[in-house]
Amino acid sequence: MSWERERKEMGKNVRFGIIGCGLMGREFASAAARWQHFTEEIPQPQLIAVCDVNPSGRKWFTNHVPTVQYEYDDYRELLKNPEVEAVYCAVPHHLHEEIYVAVIESGKHLMGEKPFGIDQAANDHILEALQEHPEVFARCASEFPYFPAMQVMLSWIREEKFGRILEIKAGFNHSSDMDTKKPINWKRQACYNGAYGCIGDLGIHTQHVPFRMGFLPRNVYASLRKYINQRPDGKGGTAACDTWDNAVLFCEAVDKRGETVPMTLETKRMSPGDTNNWYFEIYGMEASAKFTSSKPDIFTFTQSWGKEQAWADIHIGYKPMLPTITGPIFEFGFTDAILQMWGAYMKELDGRQVSFGCFTPEETALSHRLSTAALRSYEERKAMDL
Ligand SMILES: NC(=O)c1ccc[n+]([C@@H]2O[C@H](COP(=O)([O-])OP(=O)(O)OC[C@H]3O[C@@H](n4cnc5c(N)ncnc54)[C@H](O)[C@@H]3O)[C@@H](O)[C@H]2O)c1
Repeated sequence: MSWERERKEMGKNVRFGIIGCGLMGREFASAAARWQHFTEEIPQPQLIAVCDVNPSGRKWFTNHVPTVQYEYDDYRELLKNPEVEAVYCAVPHHLHEEIYVAVIESGKHLMGEKPFGIDQAANDHILEALQEHPEVFARCASEFPYFPAMQVMLSWIREEKFGRILEIKAGFNHSSDMDTKKPINWKRQACYNGAYGCIGDLGIHTQHVPFRMGFLPRNVYASLRKYINQRPDGKGGTAACDTWDNAVLFCEAVDKRGETVPMTLETKRMSPGDTNNWYFEIYGMEASAKFTSSKPDIFTFTQSWGKEQAWADIHIGYKPMLPTITGPIFEFGFTDAILQMWGAYMKELDGRQVSFGCFTPEETALSHRLSTAALRSYEERKAMDL
């Protein structure tokens, strides 16, 4: 029986397990708990099992999520549970390859976190496993394009309102690492986070929109920076901090018309004034537009009359891709974007179309080619073809 048929006959919930009960695991639980927010019928994730090596991570779930029936410290045990149909895996990057491959081989559907493998070889292995298991539906988490103002931007791109594209800039910037007393965590250590450093942590967020809209990088010149070499270890000593802090990737992309488009993708942990600032800018002959999550309600655009342009702001309001109970005059935020991403995942899992789908495994492969080429570009101080 097809998965869609089975679902129709068994009801609308999809039974989920979480592997990795940290920051993002809790965000998923919170999104799954407010499914009534959607006004259309979308299969609801029902969280029944959790796994974390740390008991305090699991405890939050057993305390707050009444549907959780199973608790594991070994992900293999969770994968043996036949009631679990799909898995959200949100663990440090060095574990992606082993655990994502195991999830796929268990035949359960997967939402994996970025970067979908610590490096190119890990990503290749995950994609090979997916090829051997076409019955598994897999996507990689990326939520920022679901801000309503970005959805307006996407419809303008699809309608070709920008005319010939002159340039694209996207980025994801933080400043919290400028506090040199901030203790170390796994995201600042290459053995857990990977050689990509900030690119692996933040890069996919900057790539989802350009890749999906057909701006595909052909080459890259990378400027990578490490500013802080050690941090407090949280136990009175210090620990090596050996990941890239800031990266600017200068790419040439080719668009759907076959035109070359300069594309800058920046990911920074040391960006003064920025707190989780995700942005996307597109400059064209007919119009240009900008979005930043720092001004989450605002779509900024200009139309070109060939001579002078003036930037204008529209307050978009709560008009997300998947309709909800919230009135259109209200404001949208990060947790709403997470909910929209999960709504998109569940609709696609249900075999239905969405106007902007979640980041695909094939897109993660392009992302890894770009990140790997960026590291080589910096090593050799020259532009690299992908
Ligand atoms: N989509 C986003 O906006 C976003 C934001 C932050 C992080 N992330 C990604 O999510 C993933 C997790 O990041 P996080 O911020 O939630 O990290 P986190 O450190 O808060 O949580 C990771 C959890 O994994 C657990 N863990 C470690 N080893 C394990 C194992 N062998 N089995 C089971 N659990 C294990 C840890 O105990 C911890 O609770 C990463 O891939 C990261 O890049 C995505």
